[in-house]
Amino acid sequence: MKRTKIIDILSSTDYGKEVCVKGWVRTHRGSKNVDFIALNDGSTIKNVQIVVDPETATIVGSPALAADSVATAAGSPATVQGALPALSLKDITTGACIAVEGTLVESPAAGQASEVHASTITIYGLCDNTYPMQKKGQSFEKMRENAHMRLRTNTFGAVMRIRHNMAMAIHTYFHEHGFYYFHTPIITASDCEGAGNMFQVTTKNLYDLKKDENGSIIYDDDFFGQQTSLTVSGQLEGELGATALGAIYTFGPTFRAENSNTPRHLAEFWMVEPEVAFLDQEELMDLEEDFIKYCVRWALEHCQDDLAFLNQMIDRSLLQRLQSVIDTDFVRLPYTEGINILQQAIKNGRKFEFPCNWGDDLASEHERYLVEEHFRKPVIMTDYPSAIKAFYMKQNPAASTVPAASSAASTVPGGLPAGASVGYRGCQAPAPTMQGTDVLFPQIGEIIGGSVREESYDKLMAEINRRGMETDKLWWYLDTRRWGSCPHAGFGLGFERLILFVTGMQNIRDVIPFPRTPKSAEF
Ligand code: 4AD
Ligand code: MG
Repeated sequence: MKRTKIIDILSSTDYGKEVCVKGWVRTHRGSKNVDFIALNDGSTIKNVQIVVDPETATIVGSPALAADSVATAAGSPATVQGALPALSLKDITTGACIAVEGTLVESPAAGQASEVHASTITIYGLCDNTYPMQKKGQSFEKMRENAHMRLRTNTFGAVMRIRHNMAMAIHTYFHEHGFYYFHTPIITASDCEGAGNMFQVTTKNLYDLKKDENGSIIYDDDFFGQQTSLTVSGQLEGELGATALGAIYTFGPTFRAENSNTPRHLAEFWMVEPEVAFLDQEELMDLEEDFIKYCVRWALEHCQDDLAFLNQMIDRSLLQRLQSVIDTDFVRLPYTEGINILQQAIKNGRKFEFPCNWGDDLASEHERYLVEEHFRKPVIMTDYPSAIKAFYMKQNPAASTVPAASSAASTVPGGLPAGASVGYRGCQAPAPTMQGTDVLFPQIGEIIGGSVREESYDKLMAEINRRGMETDKLWWYLDTRRWGSCPHAGFGLGFERLILFVTGMQNIRDVIPFPRTPKSAEF
């Protein structure tokens, strides 16, 4: 008989029909006259209830079990080669895999429309009490040690289905808005973010490295004839796509060898990077806000059952937080104003672990203070000090070249020194700033890192030289500014950080099937 997925069985009203469902046993309760098995096949968070009359139902083992029993019980005189072990209802334990043939019946029980009254149950895979997911209420930490089996739990099933739906939302959003899906390389010779946190890719014999007279490794005989790494971002190649196709997005794995053992960092994570020609800073922020709201709305529309489960089991304010992101306008806040707010908070007695003076990179605690306590809304922070951002960002004009700011604009207390700059909404900063546009989210901190790109060849080269960066690996990138340069902008969304936000999960290791973190690459 053809198998029906449980998600379809639960919405079917074909009562009286013979059906076949297959899945893994969540629970099995037995009494004298009737047994109840809750069965799940991953198609939905919901289980179908299997009702079994022990008197009439037939329990058989699949032929594969015969081979298994011979292998595990080798030498046991009771085991006949190839014979099926005698199986009964009590062998259908939590975690076991079964196929059920029976009748679809309207359920008298509350909370479910239909159930299956079993005539024959075939056991595919037995599951003894060493099964690591058998106990309820295990810690997520413990479950990480069994990441290969945790996928079969309710929580991870919900998270993985939502993850899939978010990927669909992303592709749909960009496709509907005229962006082309553009594939950038995973192996690269350049360091986009300039932070040097890269994993090397080599076929060289590490026990016998050839070095030159200065002790530097010679890469001429390596696979690519030069030093290569796994990419930290597809942006630089994405800019090549955008300055030809107009609007592209990448969506792929990225790698960072930063030793950050935090609940928000992975060594291997997925990033979504749209890049658009002829977009200015205001339009870039519009895109960031519209895109992320679309994704959250998609989750609320397409993942209702899984979200309801997570709202009940993981985070009681999840649904309300998702809705509030859709309903509010994000705050657009120059970095300099943000620092002023944080310093005012410190004056008022708020304590932070890390300092936050003008020029410091904001820590997650600062970002979350602004989002969760001060504004109680997502914040798009703009116009960061050049010193803490990547080389490719568009530089804001020097203060002296710009007319005096309006009275609404914020300024740094104490006046403006030489080298001061003017950015978004006339905000004046004491040193050069760049047109970054990071999105800061409740519970998460930075979820998007974006910027307008510096399109002037001379300004970009000056910045590259000021940072002492090597240009020989970037010649092709610089050519975009040499021929037909155009204003353009883009951003990178950390896919797992979006999943963290949408699921209410607390640790980024629990929203990717097989996390890669310092000292951990199991599975
Ligand atoms: O802010 P980042 O470093 O920006 C870039 O890589 C740009 N090239 C993007 C662009 O403009 N096209 O990274 C972008 C986002 C961050 O905001 C964060 O959400 C996520 O990627 N991210 C990480 N997620 C998980 N683990 C890590 N180690 C991450 N590092 C960054
Ligand atoms: Mg960033």
